[in-house]
Amino acid sequence: MNFFKLINLLLFVLTASAFSTSSILIDALVEALGGFTPFGIFISLLEAIPPEDIAEFASLITNNITFGVPQSAPNGTVSNLLGNPSTILPLLSYHLIKSPVSNSSIPLSPTHIIVSTALIASLENNRSQVLVLTKDSNGTIHVLNQPSDVTLTPSSGITFAGNSYGWSSVSDLLVAPTTLSATLPSYNITTFANDAVTSGITDTLENLQGLTIFVPQDSAFSSAASTLSHLNSSELASVLSGHVINGTLYSPQLTSGQTTMNFAGQTLTVTGSNVSLTGGNTANILTSDVLLQNGVVHIIDNVLMLDSLKSSAAISMSVGPWVTRVTVLALGSYLVLAQ
Ligand SMILES: *[C@@H]1O[C@H](CO)[C@@H](O)[C@H](O)[C@H]1NC(C)=O
Ligand SMILES: *[C@@H]1O[C@H](CO)[C@@H](O)[C@H](O)[C@H]1NC(C)=O
Ligand SMILES: *[C@@H]1O[C@H](CO)[C@@H](O)[C@H](O)[C@H]1NC(C)=O
Ligand SMILES: *[C@@H]1O[C@H](CO)[C@@H](O)[C@H](O)[C@H]1NC(C)=O
Ligand SMILES: *[C@@H]1O[C@H](CO)[C@@H](O)[C@H](O)[C@H]1NC(C)=O
Ligand SMILES: *[C@@H]1O[C@H](CO)[C@@H](O)[C@H](O)[C@H]1NC(C)=O
Ligand SMILES: *[C@@H]1O[C@H](CO)[C@@H](O)[C@H](O)[C@H]1NC(C)=O
Ligand SMILES: *[C@@H]1O[C@H](CO)[C@@H](O)[C@H](O)[C@H]1NC(C)=O
Ligand SMILES: *[C@@H]1O[C@H](CO)[C@@H](O)[C@H](O)[C@H]1NC(C)=O
Repeated sequence: MNFFKLINLLLFVLTASAFSTSSILIDALVEALGGFTPFGIFISLLEAIPPEDIAEFASLITNNITFGVPQSAPNGTVSNLLGNPSTILPLLSYHLIKSPVSNSSIPLSPTHIIVSTALIASLENNRSQVLVLTKDSNGTIHVLNQPSDVTLTPSSGITFAGNSYGWSSVSDLLVAPTTLSATLPSYNITTFANDAVTSGITDTLENLQGLTIFVPQDSAFSSAASTLSHLNSSELASVLSGHVINGTLYSPQLTSGQTTMNFAGQTLTVTGSNVSLTGGNTANILTSDVLLQNGVVHIIDNVLMLDSLKSSAAISMSVGPWVTRVTVLALGSYLVLAQ
């Protein structure tokens, strides 16, 4: 009931805003909704949409949208948002799910599902940012990739103006994906990002729109240290760029048997949950669909390296540092082109 009222009032305001951006209407909306505590945060944010963004927000409310309505937010977050009005439209867009969400549509953990939102930012070809949802055996739905455990509870749908909409409550304000270096620490991964800095490819990895990065966990780098410690920065850049492919491939887009060229110009093949480097080794995908603002990470258990790189490191180790190592890799030409 409350939500039905909210939407009607919202649509009234949005329609009226097509003709006028009068804040009087917004004030009326807020006053009408003021008593509905489950929507308090949502209302504060709706109220604060800058006039110039209202028409765009209205255009995002299309058929099959499910509103994710946050029930709480970390201390200070809402006031920060209100103090930076230009951040409100993107944040609210990430709370508009572009499909119906129901208990039965969410798979049981550890399987998850990717759903698109109305937020368009930093991915290739204006693709939508996504949410990753999974469900416990007891039916609790979790939104993965969030700084804290966020649960989602589907509510009954509503129909008005000839269209159906859904809404779900989300236990906390959703946080949109961010950069590679800000994301990996929450997965206890530091080596890949540190090595990216050392080899000077961080800006490339964070600025290209639409990347898939197979990131080895830290223990994989430790295991490969005897080879990696012999590489100079451009060789290291090449090894890292061998883990990167162009385009955002979430797990449903990684099909068994698929081959793709990496940014070092080599071939990667996906087989089941494995990814292998032609002329090199194989790694298993441990965690898929770690979201980035400009792509996606799949965490793997091995550093992907050419066999020749390993043997050249072995030769230089056994013969001594004065022996010139065989150059097996040049800095990925794709990375150079991209810079
Ligand atoms: C809404 O979802 C239903 C069922 O998933 C689908 O059949 C229909 O085409 C969708 N409509 C739009 C406008 O996306
Ligand atoms: C948030 O702020 C309220 C009062 O403003 C306080 O009671 C609460 O403990 C704070 N929570 C955290 C996690 O800091
Ligand atoms: C992305 O969206 C912008 C703004 O709507 C549009 O100008 C641009 O052509 C779009 N780009 C692609 C690749 O669709
Ligand atoms: C569901 O199970 C999880 C542990 O897997 C637990 O933390 C949560 O409290 C349970 N929820 C309900 C509603 O029982
Ligand atoms: C959601 O589905 C699971 C089975 O996947 C079931 O155990 C659970 O009871 C359902 N929860 C609700 C609220 O329908
Ligand atoms: C990261 O490491 C801490 C401490 O070892 C552990 O509690 C936490 O579960 C780990 N997180 C992940 C995502 O593996
Ligand atoms: C994945 O790789 C492991 C060894 O790393 C191997 O045992 C397994 O058979 C491979 N799976 C597939 C589907 O190739
Ligand atoms: C790294 O080593 C290769 C030869 O192994 C050499 O061609 C290249 O110039 C070196 N790069 C740097 C930055 O030292
Ligand atoms: C990545 O693919 C897009 C097409 O989706 C293309 O426009 C772009 O040039 C490619 N980037 C690189 C670095 O290969």
